Amino acid sequence: MQILNNGIEITYFGHSTFGIKSAGGKKVLIDPWVMGNPMCPEELKDLDEVDIIAVTHGHSDHIGDLLEIAKKFNPVVISTFEIYKWLNDKGVENCLPINKGGTQTVDGIEFTMTHAQHSSSIENDDGKLTYAGEPGGYIIRFENRFTIYHAGDTNLFGDMKLIKEIYRPELVMLPIGDVFTMSPLEASFACRMLLPKYVIPMHYGTFPMLTGTPDELENMTHDLGGLQHLALKPGEVLR
Ligand code: NI
Ligand code: MN
Repeated sequence: MQILNNGIEITYFGHSTFGIKSAGGKKVLIDPWVMGNPMCPEELKDLDEVDIIAVTHGHSDHIGDLLEIAKKFNPVVISTFEIYKWLNDKGVENCLPINKGGTQTVDGIEFTMTHAQHSSSIENDDGKLTYAGEPGGYIIRFENRFTIYHAGDTNLFGDMKLIKEIYRPELVMLPIGDVFTMSPLEASFACRMLLPKYVIPMHYGTFPMLTGTPDELENMTHDLGGLQHLALKPGEVLR
């Protein structure tokens, strides 16, 4: 899909996983659930390069393939201090810790962790849960100042107004699946607070339980004239 025209390419892997190639050619992966992601097309599972990974929280549908990808490509991995420690224990190098309000800049790309209302833990092989810090989202500002907001897993919260005021993201990625995150109804109010140019719905349809649909979101935001809905299919690339 040719819409952005700013040198940035966004590839949807399905669920909440996105690959973004910056105008400078850096490859960013948000929430690396790739090989185990039932929505991810086969041809995307064979990654060729990853420079930076940003992790919103520790749930397996967001970090399911983090260890394997990090060990294979040795990218810089940005995550909460708790996940950073866990990664260090697992032998992953090149990690950068972050927490809400903080920014890590890698190769001229700025990652600021935002609030998200959800939970976060890492499930171990024995089924026990490891505390993974608080969940978050990211504001990502690329070298050309194009700004996106990946909300992570969250419900609607009033401080999205501040995210709009402070960072003015042009493109937002919002969960709409319901049950574990906001539904299209809350996402429609998130659009009203954030007033982006583009919205990409995510975290829906992966499991039967995640019933929210992009059509519902679109129908609930007819009052927002300028808003473009980009319901990407897994494997689709936005340029
Ligand atoms: Ni989650
Ligand atoms: Mn999730």
